[in-house]
Amino acid sequence: MVIVHSVGELREAIATRKRDGQKTVGFVPTMGFLHEGHIALAENARKQNDLVVMSIFVNPTQFGPGEDFEAYPRDEQRDIQLAREAGVDILFMPTPEEMYPHDGGIRILPGPQAKVLCGASRPTHFDGVLQVILKLFNMVDPDRAYFGLKDAQQLAIIETFVRDFNFRTKIVRVETVRESDGLAKSSRNVNLSPEERKEAPAIRQALSRGAELFQSGQSATDVEQAVANYITEQTSGQIDYVTMLTYPELATDDGKATEMILACAVKFQKTRLIDNILIQKDGKICSE
Ligand code: PAF
Repeated sequence: MVIVHSVGELREAIATRKRDGQKTVGFVPTMGFLHEGHIALAENARKQNDLVVMSIFVNPTQFGPGEDFEAYPRDEQRDIQLAREAGVDILFMPTPEEMYPHDGGIRILPGPQAKVLCGASRPTHFDGVLQVILKLFNMVDPDRAYFGLKDAQQLAIIETFVRDFNFRTKIVRVETVRESDGLAKSSRNVNLSPEERKEAPAIRQALSRGAELFQSGQSATDVEQAVANYITEQTSGQIDYVTMLTYPELATDDGKATEMILACAVKFQKTRLIDNILIQKDGKICSE
């Protein structure tokens, strides 16, 4: 595995390998503090491509004022080791100055999908995500890019971006990886207190119960209320939202949708956790 820090080195490393016959590039963009969720992305990329590129960059433009940019966990040496073990060929670790050398004024304006769920309380978050994804895709020019369903809203918005702006990159969805007690793996889990960590699996339990209620015929509004009640009873967290929408449109169901997302965000003392469950209208739960 080679580690590169500049855009020039990254492009050169990819071009050299392509000249040597490694034709397809799988890309795993991350913000580091790698866990099994990221490793699953890299493993999928490893299986489907000749070359695997991973980026580690805590992107400042997707954090709003007062959010956890400073507190976002970082551990470069551990990340390098884990990326190597996961079969990454090129690890791109740029500085903010390398990624954003100019104070340019151009931003990308995501559509209505970015106004709901996390977008309601993080109004500029997805602009920042699309900005960095556009830059990274231009730098790496991947055949496939891998995103986890844990961040289902991000994934839906990136799929729309790729479709609407004619990127050649195929977006590959990867299932959420969970702890044995059901808590979705997240770099932010380390910022839970021991007490909060014990409570946090209730989020997943609440969503599973919600999915069952929906399948038994309850309305989206009743399901949202039941999930919110369960989380409030079982945790000390504060609910940011519990919302059920169509997936991947992230719109209110007009009766024609085939797939729904039941998603929530819960704020704990030092961190905010998100999780979701995808439910097919025919009754199947298709994303655990
Ligand atoms: O999901 C993440 O870790 C980030 O939002 C991403 C996609 C790497 C962009 O910074």
